[in-house]
Amino acid sequence: MLKILIVYESMFGSTRSVAEAVERGARSVVGNRVAVALRRVGDVQPEEVSDVDVLVVGAPTHAHSLSRPESRAEAAKWARDPARQLTLEPDAREEGIREFLATLHPTDAAFVAFDTRVDAPELFTGSAARAIRKRLLKKGLEPLLPSESFLVTTEGRLVDGEDTRAEHLGRALVEEARQTFPATGAMAGA
Ligand SMILES: Cc1cc2nc3c(=O)[nH]c(=O)nc-3n(C[C@H](O)[C@H](O)[C@H](O)COP(=O)(O)O)c2cc1C
Repeated sequence: MLKILIVYESMFGSTRSVAEAVERGARSVVGNRVAVALRRVGDVQPEEVSDVDVLVVGAPTHAHSLSRPESRAEAAKWARDPARQLTLEPDAREEGIREFLATLHPTDAAFVAFDTRVDAPELFTGSAARAIRKRLLKKGLEPLLPSESFLVTTEGRLVDGEDTRAEHLGRALVEEARQTFPATGAMAGA
């Protein structure tokens, strides 16, 4: 059985939307011998992570990198400003991907990192996916596919078409995992 776990953090829902689209894409091509699970970062059980073949990790970019308690507090402040029309996700201020990765035990899983960030050159925006990749490589995980950024407007809405791109990533990662882990028997429709 090929096991894929998608773990995400989201303040206002865009990274959740992307994670859900990745899950949808993956589920559209999985057979019986592939299991896909989607978890908000605060809901992941350590034993779920220990035996996955592919760990997909996504987070919003805050201050050029992963969120911290202070940036999550700032996000909560944005959500209280009626002019911004942003709604805070449940548990948004709890543990983030930075904390999840700090306590992650090394595994031999492959990984895919993604982030959401503002639609501008990465030089100016930074990238949470880059920070995720760096931390996972340090723990000994191997990249399955290149990291991806999904873009949001300066008002904090996902740019049109990014959901479709995320579905494509979900399909691509299943195809790639089938090549990388043929011993799990995860053939199409098997
Ligand atoms: C405190 C804070 C800092 C941010 N810093 C950056 C940044 O450095 N670069 C960037 O591209 N976007 C930045 N953003 C915008 C977020 O990337 C955007 O809100 C996020 O991608 C939306 O995803 P979410 O709805 O899942 O939280 C920041 C947002 C907040 C709240």
